[in-house]
Amino acid sequence: IRAAVFASGSGSNFQAIMEKNDLLCDVSLLVCDKPGASVLEKAERFGVPTFVFDPKKYASKSDYEKEVVRRMQQADISWIFLAGYMRIVGPTLLHAYENKIINIHPSLLPDFPGKDAIGQAYKAGVSNTGVTVHYIDEGIDTGPVIAQKSVEVFSGDTEETLKERIQQVEHRLYPKIINRLMKE
Ligand code: GRF
Repeated sequence: IRAAVFASGSGSNFQAIMEKNDLLCDVSLLVCDKPGASVLEKAERFGVPTFVFDPKKYASKSDYEKEVVRRMQQADISWIFLAGYMRIVGPTLLHAYENKIINIHPSLLPDFPGKDAIGQAYKAGVSNTGVTVHYIDEGIDTGPVIAQKSVEVFSGDTEETLKERIQQVEHRLYPKIINRLMKE
């Protein structure tokens, strides 16, 4: 099974996926919409080919998504794992990879969808937040939930310490759930 990871940030989840010894698929492509993102150095380190594009250079979302789909078909990709790809997936990509696109989000969805989920939860003063792996649909963090893991907010937490704990949970949960899906 060949998969693509879509990431535009630091790539710590990409790294966690790559470091799983018994991963049941080949990550054969990294798709990145931010030229210069640090995830690209990680891809190079792991020898994963990249497709980097600048959305501003395309007339529309469907234009760049067509190009992304073309690259993925060339590489024979059948699954997409979003890991810090900060864009809404459009119909072009959704229809080409129906039920084959998953995402990791740092909250217990449906709570705190969208950007800065950790900051949102911290500011709301909840005593419990967490991590969700879910299928992608046309909404923002609204697709069917595959797995969730809760993370307690301690009274001494800063946003930064909470973020660290949530990311540790992400790095364990995502590769595990990917393997579970690859077995289905
Ligand atoms: C993660 O917190 C993930 O849940 C969210 O974006 C962040 C990506 O972080 N969707 P990283 O680039 O994997 O470190």
